[in-house]
Amino acid sequence: MDLVGLMEGKRGVIEAALERYLPDDGHVLTQAMRYSLFAPGKRLRPIFAILAYEAAGGKEADEILPAACALEYVHTFTLIHDDLPSMDDDDFRRGKPSNHKVFGEGLAILAGDALMIDGLGLVAQSTAPAELVRRALAEFSRILGAGGVTRGQVDDLYGVEVDPKFLRHVHLRKTALFISFSMWVGALLAGASEEVLGLLGRAGVFAGMGFQIRDDILDVTGSREELGKTTGKDEAEGKLTYPALYGLQRSQHIAEGYARRARRIFAELGSAWSRLVDLTDYLIDRRR
Ligand code: IPE
Ligand code: IPE
Ligand code: MG
Ligand code: MG
Ligand code: MG
Repeated sequence: MDLVGLMEGKRGVIEAALERYLPDDGHVLTQAMRYSLFAPGKRLRPIFAILAYEAAGGKEADEILPAACALEYVHTFTLIHDDLPSMDDDDFRRGKPSNHKVFGEGLAILAGDALMIDGLGLVAQSTAPAELVRRALAEFSRILGAGGVTRGQVDDLYGVEVDPKFLRHVHLRKTALFISFSMWVGALLAGASEEVLGLLGRAGVFAGMGFQIRDDILDVTGSREELGKTTGKDEAEGKLTYPALYGLQRSQHIAEGYARRARRIFAELGSAWSRLVDLTDYLIDRRR
C-alpha cells in the first residue's frame, strides 16, 4: 500500500478511537474540545506512534491507541493555545476559525487545559505493562514541560537572540521533541530494546526538525486554503524562523539534511522501519 493510503487508513482508526474517548455530551467544554480535535488535522503524531509500535512488533490495539490518541489531544491543546491573541494571535486553524474566535478566550484556554490533562490521563489507559506506561508518562511530561514544548513556546514568543543555535533549540523544544516522543512511545509500548529506543529518539528529533523547518517554509510559500491556517504570519510578527535566517532555498536544504540523518537511522533499524523512511520524506516535501 502507498503512504497516502496507509495514512488514510490509520487516520480512520485514530478518528474512530477519538470519537469513543470524547463523545459529545452536550456540554460546552466538550464542544469546544471537539471543535478543534475533530477539525481536519493530519494526525501525524498518532500515525508516527502506531507505525513505530507496529515496526517494533506490537500487536494489541489497546496498548497503543490510548497513547496515540493522547498525542493528538495534547497536540491539539498546543495548537489552541498557540493561536490565542496573547500568543501567535491566529484566527484560522485546521480550515476553520480558531477555537477562541468561536468559543471566546476563556473557554479556548480551558478546552486546551482539558485536552492536555485528559490526554495525559489517556496514556494511563494503555494496557501495556505498567512499567512501560509509567515510563511513557514520565517522558511525556518531560518533553512537554519546562524543558520541552512549554519552554520552546516561551523562547519562540519572547526570545530575542537572532542566532542559529538559539533557533535550533526553539525548534527542537517546541516541535521536534514531541515528534520524536511520538515515535519513541510507540516503540516503548511495544517493548522495544533500549538500543532501538535510543536510535529512534535521535531519528525522531531529526525528522521533527525537518518537519518544523518545512512548517516555517510553508508559512512563506503555502496558501491558507492548502494549509488550513493563516500564512505570512511569521514574517509579519518578526518571528525567528529558518527562512528568515537562511532564506527559502537554504532552509529546504537544511530540512533535507535532517531528513537524511533520520532516514539513515531508520535504515539501520532494519526493513520493518521502512514506513518511517517514507513518512520522513513526506514531512519535508509536504504541501500542508
Ligand atoms: C502544526 O502541526 C504545529 C507545528 C508544530 C508546526 P501540524 O502541521 O501537525 O498540524 P495539524 O495537526 O495537521 O493541524
Ligand atoms: C507551533 O509552531 C508549535 C507548537 C507547539 C504549537 P508554530 O506557531 O509555527 O505553528 P503554526 O504554524 O501556528 O501551526
Ligand atoms: Mg507559535
Ligand atoms: Mg503559530
Ligand atoms: Mg508555523
